[in-house]
Amino acid sequence: MKNSTQKVLLSEAQIDRRVEELAGEISAEYRGKKVLLVCVLKGAVVFASDLMRRLKVAVEIDFMAVSSYGSETASSGAVRILKDLDSSIRGKDLLIVEDIVDTGLTLDYICKNLLSRKPSSLKVVTLLDKPARRKVEFTPDFCGFEIPDYFVVGYGLDFDENYRQLPGIHILQPGNKG
Ligand code: IMP
Repeated sequence: MKNSTQKVLLSEAQIDRRVEELAGEISAEYRGKKVLLVCVLKGAVVFASDLMRRLKVAVEIDFMAVSSYGSETASSGAVRILKDLDSSIRGKDLLIVEDIVDTGLTLDYICKNLLSRKPSSLKVVTLLDKPARRKVEFTPDFCGFEIPDYFVVGYGLDFDENYRQLPGIHILQPGNKG
């Protein structure tokens, strides 16, 4: 591939260990309950599928797609629902599964939107958090890794729909995006 020079930030093994730990924390949080995972497409798909197979509680999954970015790395700030959940979430214990929190605008919007549908509870797990780039205050309930302000790809995360299949998280070096 033309754009193949990316530095590894988190290896497959590091991610694997952390996902196992997160699954333990989340299973403890929801002990005796059923949790509805809301996987935010497309970036969180790899994380959600690894996480759900390690949870020790009853699980349902649904998917939501939102758009806040074109093929640029900067957030436009505008969030649109491209695909909504299939079923009602009223009275359910929701855990939103996200790949990365950057400005916080996407999750701020999703949380407000889903809370208006009266779930029993709503929490967020993100694999990655870039707190340095926040535009709105947002703190995930569970977080895999806090990372510096790099644009990263792999393990489901893309640049312009590329690199999602990489097993680790890589820093996309400037000049290698096009
Ligand atoms: P936020 O609304 O700025 O928090 O952005 C969240 C969304 O932006 C994520 O779900 C990703 O789709 C995308 N995003 C933000 N930072 C990155 C990155 O470093 N790599 C890939 N996608 C990113």
